[in-house]
Amino acid sequence: MSACSFPPRFTWGAATSAYQIEGATAEDGRGESIWDRFAQKPGAIADGSDGRVACDHYHRWREDLALMKELGLQAYRFSVAWPRVLPDGGGQTNDRGLDFYERLVDGLREAGIRPVVTLYHWDLPQALQDTGGWAVRSTAEAFVHYADVVSRRLGDRVDTWVTHNEPWCIAQLGHATGVHAPGHHNATEALAVAHHVLLSHGWAVPVLRGNVANARVGVTLNLVPAYPASPSEPDREATRHFDGFFNRWYLDPLYRGAYPVDVVADRTREGHLVKGQMPWVRPGDLKAVSVPTDFLGVNYYSRAILRSDRVPEAENHPRTVPIPPPEVLTDMEWEVYPDGLRDLLNRLHQDYRPAEIIITENGAAYSRGPDAQGRIADRRRQDYLHSHLLAIHEAIGLGVPVSGYYAWSLLDNFEWAFGFAKRFGLVWVDYASQQRTPKDSALWYRGVIADNAVAATAIDRVSA
Ligand code: FCB
Repeated sequence: MSACSFPPRFTWGAATSAYQIEGATAEDGRGESIWDRFAQKPGAIADGSDGRVACDHYHRWREDLALMKELGLQAYRFSVAWPRVLPDGGGQTNDRGLDFYERLVDGLREAGIRPVVTLYHWDLPQALQDTGGWAVRSTAEAFVHYADVVSRRLGDRVDTWVTHNEPWCIAQLGHATGVHAPGHHNATEALAVAHHVLLSHGWAVPVLRGNVANARVGVTLNLVPAYPASPSEPDREATRHFDGFFNRWYLDPLYRGAYPVDVVADRTREGHLVKGQMPWVRPGDLKAVSVPTDFLGVNYYSRAILRSDRVPEAENHPRTVPIPPPEVLTDMEWEVYPDGLRDLLNRLHQDYRPAEIIITENGAAYSRGPDAQGRIADRRRQDYLHSHLLAIHEAIGLGVPVSGYYAWSLLDNFEWAFGFAKRFGLVWVDYASQQRTPKDSALWYRGVIADNAVAATAIDRVSA
C-alpha cells in the first residue's frame, strides 16, 4: 500500500463553534445572541430546535477534551461566544465568560493540543443587533474592542487567531436570504454588512498582533469553486457572475484592496447598488481590510456548476446543475467533489498568494448512527475526508502552502437552520443522554494523524 505523506510540520485538527456546541446560553452572565433570538422564530429552524443545550459542551468540555486526546488531535479550532465575554456587546466585561475559555485553553495546552480561536462564528450579541448589527459601522468598532478584550486575556496562551468565520454567510444568509440570524431580506444591506465585517477584520489584525506574541492571524472564507455547465459563452458568464459574488467579493478586498469592478457592475444592474456607489465604504477602509495576514482560512464543502438560466446565488448553498446522482450527495445535498478543493487551492495560490492556507473546515453530513453493537460505521464520511485529503496532498505537491487541516466537526452539533438533523461529527452525540461515541471515521482519522499520511487511494485503505 502506498501512502501520501504530508509535510513534517503539517497540523491536524478538528473544528467546532460556540453556539453549535456549548449550550448553557443563560449561564454565568452570558448575554443574548442573535441566534438565541432567531431560533425562537417559528419556522426558522427546520426541527424547531435551538442552541440552549446543544452538546452541553459548556459543562462537558473536559470529556470533549479527553476525546480530542484520544483521537490524537494536534490542534482544536473553537470559537469564543462574544455575548459570554461582553453580554451587551461592549461595556462591562463578564469575567466568568472569559474564565470558561481560559480553562479550556489551559486544558488544551496541558494536553498538548494547540488552541485556535475564532473570534466571530455568527453569535453577535443581540444588544448590538438592536443598534443596527453589522449593517452599521459601530459594530465593526465594537468587534475591535471585543478582539482586544479576548486577546489580552488569552494572548499569552493562544497564538493562532481567526477573526471571522465565513463573511459570505454572515452577509448573505443573515441579511439577504434571511435563513440565518438576524433573518433579514435586504441585498443592499448585505453588501454593507460584508464591508463592515471585512473592515472589522482589518482593524482587529493589528490589535491582535499587539496583544499576542508571535501571533498568527487570518480570516476564514467559505469558498466555492465554480464551473460552467458547458463551454458556451452564457454559461461561462454565469460562472464569472457566481465566482465574482461568492469568492472574489471577499478575496479581492482582502488581497488586492478593492472590490471587483465587474461585480459592482452586476450589483448595480441588478438594482442592489445605485450607480455602483457604496456609501458605507470610506477612504482608507480598503487599505485597512487588505492588511497582510499570516494565513487564509479556507472552508471547503462543495463546488458549483453554473448554467446561464439558473444562477443560484440566492440559495443557501449553490446547487449543482444538472443535479448529480444521489450517491455523490451528502445529507446537505452538497455534491462530493474533492477535485474542487485542489482546483480552489491552486487558484488561490496563483491569483492571491496567501502566505499560508489552513483548511479550517472540511467535512460531510451523513446521518449514519450506531448499529446494534453501538458501532458507527460511517464509511461515507471516511471516504469524503480521505478523498479531500488526497486533493490537498496534490495541491501541496503543486506548491500550494497548505499548513493544516481541521475536520468539521469534532462533534455532531446544532447545524444552524437545519437544527440537529444534519450530523457532521467525527463523534456521534446522542442528544438525549449526551453520550459521545467516536464514529469509525474518527478512528480512521486518528490513524491519519499518527501516520501524518493517507493511503494513496481510498481503495488501498479498504484492503489494508
Ligand atoms: C460552515 C459553518 C459551520 C458549519 C458547516 C457545515 O458554513 O462555518 O459552522 O455549519 O458549514
